[in-house]
Amino acid sequence: MSKTSQISGFYNLTPEERLRILKEFASLTDEEVNILRSTGPLDINLANRMIENVIGVMPVTLGIATNFLINGKEYLIPMAIEEPSVVAAASNAAKMAREKGGFTTSSTQPVMIGQIQILKVPDPHRARMSLLSAKDEILQKANEQDPILVSKGGGAKDVRCKVLNTIVGSMVILELLVDCRDAMGANAVNTMAEAVAPIVERISGGKVCLRIISNLATERLARARATFSKAALGGEEVVEGIINAYAFALADPYRCATHNKGIMNGITAVVLATGNDTRAVEAGAHSYAALHGGYRPLTTWEKNHDGDLVGTIEVPMAVGLIGGATATHPVAKIAIKILGVKSASELAQVIAAVGLAQNLAALKALATEGIQRGHMTLHARNIALMAGATGEMVDRIADIMVKERRVRMDRAKELLEKLMRGQ
Ligand code: MEV
Repeated sequence: MSKTSQISGFYNLTPEERLRILKEFASLTDEEVNILRSTGPLDINLANRMIENVIGVMPVTLGIATNFLINGKEYLIPMAIEEPSVVAAASNAAKMAREKGGFTTSSTQPVMIGQIQILKVPDPHRARMSLLSAKDEILQKANEQDPILVSKGGGAKDVRCKVLNTIVGSMVILELLVDCRDAMGANAVNTMAEAVAPIVERISGGKVCLRIISNLATERLARARATFSKAALGGEEVVEGIINAYAFALADPYRCATHNKGIMNGITAVVLATGNDTRAVEAGAHSYAALHGGYRPLTTWEKNHDGDLVGTIEVPMAVGLIGGATATHPVAKIAIKILGVKSASELAQVIAAVGLAQNLAALKALATEGIQRGHMTLHARNIALMAGATGEMVDRIADIMVKERRVRMDRAKELLEKLMRGQ
């Protein structure tokens, strides 16, 4: 019988039953099924409640970046990422920043935007005025949805309204500005946007369609800056090299994408480690980079009067401490404890500092020796492991390959054979 991916009621099965089906579908071995079964610290029953059709977990390495001094406070930073060198690079950059006092950060209030799309509005500009005048009624309805958020000082605070001319004609967009306090806020904002829709239809005379949060969180920005002495960086030439690298990113979207990717290496790793929504933060960051036309770096780099390098970052940061995986995932909870952050805004600022550190480390490496050397040792260990080395053999083979600058599978196998023969 031919295989089919159409499996009715798959979502009603237990993870164990799903694994049985999967084993047959993909011809998995017993060993492979056992790997999927071992969910580590994330209990399978909890995992099964987090998303649908669960069969296991995807473990990602969790590292700790050291040396972070932010607003005079010491932080160890949990980072969940599969890419070698990222954690070491962040730690190195944070170490260099300490000489000049570490990172200084700030943030706006944790305000997210909910968008309500109104179609078929007979008189869009009049409707806009009427909606803005009905601000109190709209806000009251929104805030009735989340008394706990309101009791903590959050809730819907303002409305904005715009008329868009689109390919299907004009539409009116009402925006709810919601202070989400320590929540990421998607649930609160979406609930509010849905709840106010009938009022919005009555006042505008139109038909509401989409009611959803915007990930372009321009009202929820996190900022960080740091000074890196030219001596710590390796001299004036390195400072110049980093500024030239920044100028390249500013002038060219192809380079800028990679520049910002390096920043997101740090940001996404902390967002993931703390159980926050990596896609929301990524979408926010890249759309913010493109906000004013063109696509720009999320950081700036300039020289101060002493010839030292000053970096800044400003980035939307929709992260929370309560709700979602942050509140339920056992490892995310420990990550928050390690960070010692007391509010979502503090977490957002720490993440911005990590993004800045990550960018500095990448630009410094690129402007000097290139990034491959730093990658080589870990890469060589991976190759040694893949060649079949175990125990102390792994490091011995890796060291030889790095010294020889021949990090290749054939060489790893050759060395392994030699070492096994005791040569
Ligand atoms: C690699 O993951 C990130 C870098 O490419 C960033 C950059 O080029 O700025 C090194």
